[in-house]
Amino acid sequence: MSIAIIGAGMAGAACASRLVRQGQQVTVFDKGRSAGGRMSSKRTVQGYLDLGAQYFTARDAAFMAQCQHWLRAGNIAQWQGRLARLDNGIVVASPDESVRFVGAPSMQAPVAALLHAVSLHTGCQVDQLAFDGKRWQLFSAGVSLGQFNHLVLAIPQQQAEQLLQYAISLNPELNQLFATPALLPCWAVNVTLAHSPWPYDGIFGETGHPLSWLARQGSKPGRCQGEHWLLHFSAAFSQQYLEADSSEIAKLALQALQQLTGEPLSAKVSHCHRWRYAQQNPAFPHYGMVYRPELALGLAGDWLNGGRVENAWLSGVQLARELQR
Ligand code: FAD
Ligand code: NAI
Repeated sequence: MSIAIIGAGMAGAACASRLVRQGQQVTVFDKGRSAGGRMSSKRTVQGYLDLGAQYFTARDAAFMAQCQHWLRAGNIAQWQGRLARLDNGIVVASPDESVRFVGAPSMQAPVAALLHAVSLHTGCQVDQLAFDGKRWQLFSAGVSLGQFNHLVLAIPQQQAEQLLQYAISLNPELNQLFATPALLPCWAVNVTLAHSPWPYDGIFGETGHPLSWLARQGSKPGRCQGEHWLLHFSAAFSQQYLEADSSEIAKLALQALQQLTGEPLSAKVSHCHRWRYAQQNPAFPHYGMVYRPELALGLAGDWLNGGRVENAWLSGVQLARELQR
């Protein structure tokens, strides 16, 4: 059975790795320069910067076992950041006992490890699909990428909807998956400071505050040393400023940071990144994954399973199980 997987993020990689282990013929396509998706660290001369996922936790037993495997192989490391939270706009200590992981040396490392033995085509945006009732044909810029017995979409909801217009016309039930936006945006900004304003490595935002997260990158293995602070704006703020340009977002990030420290800052913004599809809309239902045998079609991804890295992995693994039945 030949299977095409669109998307080499955690969900697509987990699905591909399971299927290849079962002897299936799998080809993965991703439009990015490398695998990882939203688990993405930007390489800079001073080290990596995590612009997307910041860390991940493991609650499910199977994912915990997977994390142990990655730990032994050196693909991930434990992050023991000193934690704080905002309380009425004031930074207060907030330590806990949770175990948190980061990719090593970059966030995409565990995804790359899953895809080690998989046929992967990066830099390849799939922009058209055709289904003849038995086989799917994939196209990129008018060029056929081949025909496959099964198709898996492991991409964010809004991008899947664009590709699936034809399948939706064959099976209007699929429409319900796209009735509500599953993923909300997030602006990420990296700020370089002369010295650390706080004795912490990660700060959780609070409801109503424009910032949802701040993290000192140098506290993670392989990341930029020095005072590089990665800021995430909340979903509400990011939605409001979705079409703003980077210079405006940079200014707002410095203002928000200055308000938190309460003193003039010697700070410079080095990167601004807009994630259009970032974090789970809490109102979106959990499907786990979706498999439609009559269409030889599967969908996986964090957006179908409650967001988070762990849930993306679980969604991909669950879909692989369905495809092997
Ligand atoms: P993705 O990672 O989005 O993978 C989809 C892939 O599909 C991408 O590589 C993309 O390039 C590719 N693609 C899309 N369309 C096409 C196409 N037409 N053709 C070819 N390829 C295509 N989770 C946590 O657990 N902890 C965190 O701290 C955390 N923080 C986050 C912070 C931010 C700013 C963001 C954006 C996300 C964060 N997350 C966090 C969520 C986590 O990153 C995701 O849950 C997880 O990485 C999603 O994996 P996925 O495989 O479902 O999707
Ligand atoms: P987790 O268990 O560390 O955090 C879950 C939530 O619990 C946090 O968002 C925070 O509100 C709270 N929390 C945890 N520890 C805390 C502490 N010591 N002090 C104060 N509050 C604390 O991790 P989990 O469940 O694996 O979630 C991953 C993280 O990824 C979350 O912080 C989530 O918000 C974030 N995320 C961000 C996205 C974005 O686009 N910015 C997208 C997806 C996830």
